[in-house]
Amino acid sequence: DHIETVADALLTADTVVALTGAGMSTASGIPSFRGDDGIWRTQFDPDDFDIRRLDADPAGFWRDRLDLHEAMFAANPEPNAAHDALAALERTGVLDTVVTQNTDGLHAAAGTESLLELHGNAHRVVCRSCGHRSDAADARQRVRDGEVPPRCSDCGGVLKPDVVLFGEMLPRETLQAARRLARDSDVFLAIGSSLTVEPAASLPGLAAGGGMLVLVNLDETPYSGRADVDLRADVTDVLPRLVDTVERQ
Ligand code: OAD
Ligand code: ZN
Repeated sequence: DHIETVADALLTADTVVALTGAGMSTASGIPSFRGDDGIWRTQFDPDDFDIRRLDADPAGFWRDRLDLHEAMFAANPEPNAAHDALAALERTGVLDTVVTQNTDGLHAAAGTESLLELHGNAHRVVCRSCGHRSDAADARQRVRDGEVPPRCSDCGGVLKPDVVLFGEMLPRETLQAARRLARDSDVFLAIGSSLTVEPAASLPGLAAGGGMLVLVNLDETPYSGRADVDLRADVTDVLPRLVDTVERQ
C-alpha cells in the first residue's frame, strides 16, 4: 500500500525533509487556520495581525493578539502522536530535518532536533528597536494588566510576537536553508498544511523536480495533482503507521 511505498522510499533516500503546518497540531487542540473550524474562517480576521496593524495601532494589535493566542493555546497543547512520529523518524535516522510553519513549539517539545521554524515561535517576543528576545508569557501578562503595547525591558521599544506576521518577510537565511533542503531532498513530505501561504507553499515545487513528493493532509492541496503519493488522511493515523513500517524493515 501507500505507507509501504513511502517507507521504502525513506529507507533508500539520502535526504528526507518534512514540511509541516497547522494540521500537525489540531490533535493537540490547536485549531488550524483554513481547515474545518479554521480560525481565519470562523473567529479572526488575518488583517488584524498584519505588520501594518502593529505599526498603526500597536495597542489594538496586542489586545487582539492576546485573544488569538488564548484561542490557539487554550487547551495547553502537548505534542501528539504525529509530532512523536516525526521525532522517532529522526532518531531512526531516516528523517533529516523538519521545516515547520507552526509557531507552537510542539516539534521541539516532542524531541525533533533538526528543526527550522519558518514562521518563528509564539512563545517568544522580540523588541522592534533592539532585537532583544524574551518570554511571551510575561508580555501577555502585561497586556492583561493594561500595559499596551508591552515594551522592551532593555530599551523601551515596542515588542512584537517573535513570529512572521502577514506583510513581513521570512528571515533570509531561514528561507534559503529551507529552499536548499527542499531542492536536495530525495523524499519531501508535506504534512498537515494547506500549502497556500508563500513562500512556504513553493517548497514542495522545488522538491518535486528531483525527489518524491508525498502529501499527508485531510483536504486537497494545490499539489494534489502532481504529488507521487497523496494521502488524504489524519496525520496522527498515517505518521505512527509509517514509523511502524519503517522500523519493521
Ligand atoms: P492551514 O490551516 O492553512 O492548513 C491546515 C491543513 O491541515 C488543512 O488543509 C486541513 O485540512 C489539514 N488538517 C487539519 N487537521 C488535520 C489532521 N489531523 N490530519 C491531517 N490534516 C489535517 O495551515 P497552514 O498550511 O499551516 O502563518 O497555514 C500556513 C500559515 O498560514 C500558518 O503558518 C500561519 C497561517 O496564517 C503564520 O502564522 C505566519
Ligand atoms: Zn529593546
